[in-house]
Amino acid sequence: MTVPLLDLNRQHESLLPQLRQVFEEVTRSGQFILGEYVQRFERELAEYCGVKHAVGVSSGTDALLVSLMAMGIGSGDEVITTPFTFFATAGSIARVGARPVFVDINPRTYNIQAHDIQGAITERTKAIMPVHLYGLSANMDAIMEVAKANDLKLIEDAAQASGARYHDRPVGSIGDVGCFSFYPTKNLAGMGDGGACVTNDDDLAEKLRQMRNHGADRADHFPSIGGNFRLDGYQAGFLSVKLPHLDNWCDMRREHADRYGRELEEVAITTPFESQNRHHVYNQYTVRVRGKGMRDGLRHHLEAHGIGCRIYYTRPLHLQPCFADLNYAPGSLPFAEEAAGQVLSLPAFPEMTTQEQDDVISCVSDFFLAE
Ligand SMILES: Cc1ncc(COP(=O)(O)O)c(C=O)c1O
Repeated sequence: MTVPLLDLNRQHESLLPQLRQVFEEVTRSGQFILGEYVQRFERELAEYCGVKHAVGVSSGTDALLVSLMAMGIGSGDEVITTPFTFFATAGSIARVGARPVFVDINPRTYNIQAHDIQGAITERTKAIMPVHLYGLSANMDAIMEVAKANDLKLIEDAAQASGARYHDRPVGSIGDVGCFSFYPTKNLAGMGDGGACVTNDDDLAEKLRQMRNHGADRADHFPSIGGNFRLDGYQAGFLSVKLPHLDNWCDMRREHADRYGRELEEVAITTPFESQNRHHVYNQYTVRVRGKGMRDGLRHHLEAHGIGCRIYYTRPLHLQPCFADLNYAPGSLPFAEEAAGQVLSLPAFPEMTTQEQDDVISCVSDFFLAE
C-alpha cells in the first residue's frame, strides 16, 4: 500500500481542460504580471471572504511582509505571534526590522494562547499576528478584544486556512488584514507561488497595492519603498478556476477528519480540536502522540508501510538559531516545545479514497496494538 500525504494530480486531472484554457488565454493576452486575470481573481477572492479588497501578491510570505510594510511596522517595534508555526510568520516580522515576541500556544488547539497576549504587550508592541494553524481558526474574539483594548493592529496569518471560518466569518476577514498563501500544499493550491492580502480598510488596500509594486502610487513616482511582490496572470487565472471548488474540497477534508475521529477513537492518540464555532478545514490533519519516542515510532511505522506523514513543526521558532538573539531559553514556551515533540500530520487531502483512509487507519491502529 502507498498513500501519499498529498496528491495534487488528482485535483488537476479533472480541471485540466479549464487550466489549459487559462494557459492559452493568459498567453494570448500577454498580461503576465498583475493585469486583468489578477484583478478578476482579486474580485472573486474578496467576494469569497466577504471583504472590500483583495490584493494578490507573490506568496503567503510576501502577504505578511507587505502587510507589515504597509502598516509602517519596522525597527524598534514588536509584533506578538506564536512560536508554533511555519518560519515565515516570524521571519517576516524580523525582515521588516521588528522583534517577534512569542506567546505560547494553547496545547489543545496549537494556536496562540489568546489570554496570555495581554501580558506580552509593551509600549513597543504594534501588532498581533495570530496564525490559524493547520486550518483551525485562532480564538479571534479574545484576540480582537486585546487588540482593540491596546490599539494594536491585527494581522491574520491565514496561510493554512483558506476556507476556514470563525463563527460565520471567513478567517482573514476578521483582523485589519488577512494573509493567504496559495503554495501548492495549501487548501487553495496555486501551481507555483502565490498569496493575497484581504482587508476592509480602503487606505490600507491602497498602500498594499503600492507596496507590492515597489511603493509606486503611479508611474515612476514612489512615495514609499516597497518591493516586487506581484502576483502573475497565470497563477491568478489558475486560482480563479480553483476557487469555486474550495468549499467542496474543504468539506471533503472535513469528512476524512470526521472518519478519522470515529475510527481512531480507541487508539492512544489525540485527534484535532473541534468546535462548532470554528469551521476547521484540515489543511493538515494533525494528531498528537504522547509517550517517549512514540510519535517518531509511529512516523517510522507509517513510512515503512508507504504512508505519507509529516511533522509540522519539529522545532518551535523561539528555538531557531536565527532567533538566538531574542534570548528564549529551552523550556520558556513549554506547550509549543511539547507539541513539537508529539505532533504528526496524516493524509487528509480531498481526493483520498476510502480504501486509502482504511489503510492509514489500520496502519495507525496496528502500531498501537503491537506496542
Ligand atoms: C502559517 C504560514 N505562514 C506563512 C506561510 C508562507 O506562505 P508561502 O509559502 O506562500 O510563502 C506558510 C506556508 O508556507 C504558512 O504555513
